[in-house]
Amino acid sequence: MIVVTAAGGQTGAAVVRALWSRGHRVRAVVTGSRDRPELTALAADVVAADLRDPVSVEVALAGAEALYLIWPNFDPDEAAGVTALLAAARQAGIGRFVYHSVLRPQARSMPHHAAKDRVEEALDASGLAWRVLQPCAYADNLDGQLADVASGGLFRSPWGLTAAQSLVDLRDVADAAVVLLTEDGLDGGTFEAVGPERLTAPRIAELLAGRLGRAVTAVDAEPGGPVPPASDYPAHCRRVMFDHYRAHGFTGSPRVLEALLGRPTRTFAEHLASVPVPDAEEGT
Ligand SMILES: NC(=O)c1ccc[n+]([C@@H]2O[C@H](COP(=O)([O-])OP(=O)(O)OC[C@H]3O[C@@H](n4cnc5c(N)ncnc54)[C@H](OP(=O)(O)O)[C@@H]3O)[C@@H](O)[C@H]2O)c1
Repeated sequence: MIVVTAAGGQTGAAVVRALWSRGHRVRAVVTGSRDRPELTALAADVVAADLRDPVSVEVALAGAEALYLIWPNFDPDEAAGVTALLAAARQAGIGRFVYHSVLRPQARSMPHHAAKDRVEEALDASGLAWRVLQPCAYADNLDGQLADVASGGLFRSPWGLTAAQSLVDLRDVADAAVVLLTEDGLDGGTFEAVGPERLTAPRIAELLAGRLGRAVTAVDAEPGGPVPPASDYPAHCRRVMFDHYRAHGFTGSPRVLEALLGRPTRTFAEHLASVPVPDAEEGT
């Protein structure tokens, strides 16, 4: 049995799907008791637990051999919460612990990256057999904009028009998670999951134009106003993240992910081809 946390989110659901497609038994940890048809359709055993509560976590981990630990996005409790959870995982006898981190966790200007860096630091003292996956930004993050781009012809980039991102398809990230959860010889390894292209906003606009069959222009959607205070953690993190991307880009090498998967990773055009875009074929 493999446990996946934050299974109600986009990353967790993708990992559950990838495990299911290879026939693995999965326990999907969610919040609350509402039905999760999207997870039960993947034959997952759905369990409610609060990741901040070690007692409920221990129940969720009981009898599992491996854990894929995803912490909710932009959450101020990540460093302390995961560190507490490491003890619960050891207590539960988890034989393989995989942590979903981020590319460049050491970038301290972004608190949600720095929190993951502190978690990675704590792994050595955890007594667990651990592995870490460090994904770049997902190509899937842009999916929510596609309908607007299809109708308005504008791709809005909060990181400007010149910096690049090595967007990675979430299915490739999830496939890498399966490798880390199931294959031997990877303990103590930290693996980057980076897409194959360095994509500026104008290049993304070109690829969107090809997918949507209409002209698309990239526009600079620079976040205005002062940086939200650190007390508004999600807004603060989002803003300093886009400021960092604007200044430095968010790119890396695809080589590690290709080696983990044993195949080329998906390009942004391949990602777009898999996303249903209702009005795309008509164009306007
Ligand atoms: N997006 C990216 O490009 C990217 C890139 C690299 C790394 N990451 C990392 O990936 C991780 C997941 O991001 P995501 O965008 O997939 O997350 P997400 O969509 O925000 O999902 C997180 C899920 O966690 C669940 N949750 C919230 N509080 C919880 C709690 N106290 N206990 C248990 N579950 C709780 C919620 O699910 P329910 O309430 O539905 O159960 C929520 O849907 C983050 O740590 C992020 O930093 C993201």
